[in-house]
This record gives sequence, C-alpha cells and structure tokens, in this order.
Amino acid sequence: MRLTAKQIALHDDQRDLGAAGRAALVRAFGRLFPAAGRVLDAGGGTGWAVPLLEAAGLTAVLADLSADMLAAAATDTPRVRGDLTALPFAGGGFDGVHASYAIQNVPDWTAAICECVRVLRPDGVAVVAWGGPSPDPMVRDVSAFYFAQLGQWAGTAGQRQGLSSTAAGAAQVERAGCVAIAPVTITGAQTRTLRQLVVRMATNPFRGDPPADLARTARATTLAWAAKRYGDLDRPRTVEVAHVLYGYRRL
Ligand SMILES: C[S@@+](CC[C@H](N)C(=O)[O-])C[C@H]1O[C@@H](n2cnc3c(N)ncnc32)[C@H](O)[C@@H]1O
Repeated sequence: MRLTAKQIALHDDQRDLGAAGRAALVRAFGRLFPAAGRVLDAGGGTGWAVPLLEAAGLTAVLADLSADMLAAAATDTPRVRGDLTALPFAGGGFDGVHASYAIQNVPDWTAAICECVRVLRPDGVAVVAWGGPSPDPMVRDVSAFYFAQLGQWAGTAGQRQGLSSTAAGAAQVERAGCVAIAPVTITGAQTRTLRQLVVRMATNPFRGDPPADLARTARATTLAWAAKRYGDLDRPRTVEVAHVLYGYRRL
C-alpha cells in the first residue's frame, strides 16, 4: 500500500500524548523493558516511539513493511524493511520487542506474534499496544457514527481478517511462550478541532480501505452530523487520549 505524506502525518498525529503523557511513556518503557536493552520496534511505522525508547536508555531498531512509513522516519535509528510474519532477524537477538497498533494490521497475526516472540531472548519483554476504543466519549461517539456510515467496511483490516480481540492476541502471545505482566495505561490529552478529528479518522489508511466515494460520503455525513450534535467544527477542544501497554515476558 502506497501512503501519502498527509496520510502518514495524520496517522502519527494520533500518537500525540502531550508532554506529560510522553514523559509517562518513557518511565513505563524504563520499567517494562530490561535495562539498557536492545528493543525492536516491530511494525514501528515512522518510529514515533523510538525517541521515547531511547530516552528510557534503550537502543532501538525500527522495522516496518512500509517503505513510505520508514522513509518518513525522523530518526537515524537503524531501520529495516521487513514483514512481521518473517522478521529478518536471528532468534533471541532482542531484549525487547515493542509492537504498537501493528499486529492487528497483519492478516496472519498469529504468525506475527510467533515472530515477535522468536526474536526475543529468554526473559526478554514484549510490549504490545493492541488498540481499543478512545477514552474520550465524544471521540468514541463520532468514531462509531463514522464507521457505521462505512457499513461492511467498518473495523480494522486486521480485525476483519481474524484478530477479534485483545484477549485473542494475548492468548496467542502466551501460547508462543510468554507470561503476561501487568498492563500499563498512559493517558494524555490533545487539543484538536472536531473537523481535524473526523478528517484524521477518515484518512487513516490502516482502518480498512473503503471505496473512495463511500469514504467521501461517510466523511461528509459525519461532519454534518457532528456539527449538529457537538456544535462548531472548528473550535479547538481538549480530548482525552490513552495508550495501553500490555507486557509479556518470554519464558
Ligand atoms: C497502525 S500503524 C502503527 C505504526 C506504529 N507502530 C504506531 O504505533 O504508530 C501499523 C503499522 O504496521 C505496519 N505493518 C502492517 N503490516 C505489516 C507487516 N506484515 N509487517 C510489518 N509491518 C507491517 C504498517 O506499515 C504500519 O506502519
């Protein structure tokens, strides 16, 4: 899938946790991953997490299937184009694997999980963000309306192709040879207009690939509905964001 600069920028905008959220994430990475470890950011996209891993004293390697995401990376961390279902790394070579909102995008997500565990050394830690509904009631409401407009196209490509829940993913990580450690929730806030939130939602290339005319109609209908329900589309609003990290230790 080719990605435009706009799609990539809007995708990454979702990860903005604000300064306090970013600081909390650095602390969480420091607690979860083995100290001074080498961490694979698997399906890491443009590597938004890399500076935060590095700030936690870790060394990162970025891997992603998308040449466009890798080319947009603002980091000089080593980057490798590779498929999560066949990672181009030897077994046991990493102290940690960070996979945020990536495994659920892979049709063969069980293979992706096996690969993430294979490259971990014993006692190494995988940290997975499986994704889930927004903590913000307005964003959840608008998102539900938008995806309802898409009908059969709603949902992530990964979900449509098999990963039905966080529990299913977690069970597979455990079958692959890990034990779960307590999840950590990082919260933050973003100030965005409702229009920006709807456009971002409708531009996300990783939430399925509806036909262009259906996507255009869904976006326009959602903007009109949101303006009626919530008022001024262009007024900045502060919305809650959350990033839930599920940790797994390799046996
Ligand atoms: C929703 S984005 C998440 C990116 C980043 N981890 C983040 O948290 O923003 C999903 C990422 O998974 C990558 N991806 C999808 N299928 C993949 C595969 N089979 N192997 C490696 N990366 C893949 C995409 O290119 C994209 O960068």
